[in-house]
Amino acid sequence: MAEAADANNEAFREKKQTAIVLGYTGETGRVLVRMLAKEKLFSKVTLVGRREIDLSKDGVGTEFEQKLVDFEKLDDHAEAFQGHDVGFWCLGTTRGKSGVEGFKKVDYDYVLKTAELAKSGGLRHFQFMSTYGADQNASTLYSRTKGQVEEALKVMHFEKLSIFRPAVLMVDREESRPVEAVARFVLKPIAKLFPTAITVPIEYVAKAMINAAVTPSHDNVHVFENKEIHALGGSARVCKDKQEPSKNK
Ligand SMILES: NC(=O)c1ccc[n+]([C@@H]2O[C@H](COP(=O)([O-])OP(=O)(O)OC[C@H]3O[C@@H](n4cnc5c(N)ncnc54)[C@H](OP(=O)(O)O)[C@@H]3O)[C@@H](O)[C@H]2O)c1
Repeated sequence: MAEAADANNEAFREKKQTAIVLGYTGETGRVLVRMLAKEKLFSKVTLVGRREIDLSKDGVGTEFEQKLVDFEKLDDHAEAFQGHDVGFWCLGTTRGKSGVEGFKKVDYDYVLKTAELAKSGGLRHFQFMSTYGADQNASTLYSRTKGQVEEALKVMHFEKLSIFRPAVLMVDREESRPVEAVARFVLKPIAKLFPTAITVPIEYVAKAMINAAVTPSHDNVHVFENKEIHALGGSARVCKDKQEPSKNK
């Protein structure tokens, strides 16, 4: 298995593809960046966000570049989105943090506008971090919005679209989110007994996204449900150097 992963990664490296990451300052995005830095799979990685962060301890090489954009004036930053093969979108907020309108703005408007700019800029493989239960007809704002974004992405006709639907993210979050923290505490024993049922470590999500990028497939659109994220990013270990869940902040 490890040899196959090595060969896969090496074949991918030789293609000298480029990547763009949205939401790289967040929990999953940051782990993804660390993994990309370690694997060195891309010849260039553009990190797009609203603020710069210190990545000196994340092992990033000179192929990584942070680009600051004003999300209210994304058209002014079209250049930042040009010239990438693979995009990793881990952008998002919560209703609690940003209110209903703020949530819709980030999780719908910003995601789709940046996706459009990247598509116009040549992006071929779009990877979107959605959520468990995403459904455009869902009664809850969160699941409905994610479902609506998924549908909008499908009609943009990327060469390849990978949608990830993780369940509750297991992470020692830097930011205080008491409701999530309580949920994680309650879910911890369940996660131990039934690891793929309703939780997933963020490391598995990040690794699943990377593995979906490097693994050839014939699907134009693939939806990775929580179990498949575990298989692709956790137990399957297509990338060889699996990190310990939630210990790398
Ligand atoms: N929490 C869960 O259990 C769960 C489960 C399934 C799916 N998801 C989804 O997975 C995705 C990633 O989750 P996460 O917990 O890793 O994310 P996170 O830590 O909350 O990070 C979110 C990212 O989005 C950026 N962002 C938020 N508001 C923004 C704004 N107004 N303008 C520009 N950028 C903004 C953040 O930038 P700053 O650092 O500058 O704020 C950060 O880079 C989200 O879409 C989330 O909905 C979450």
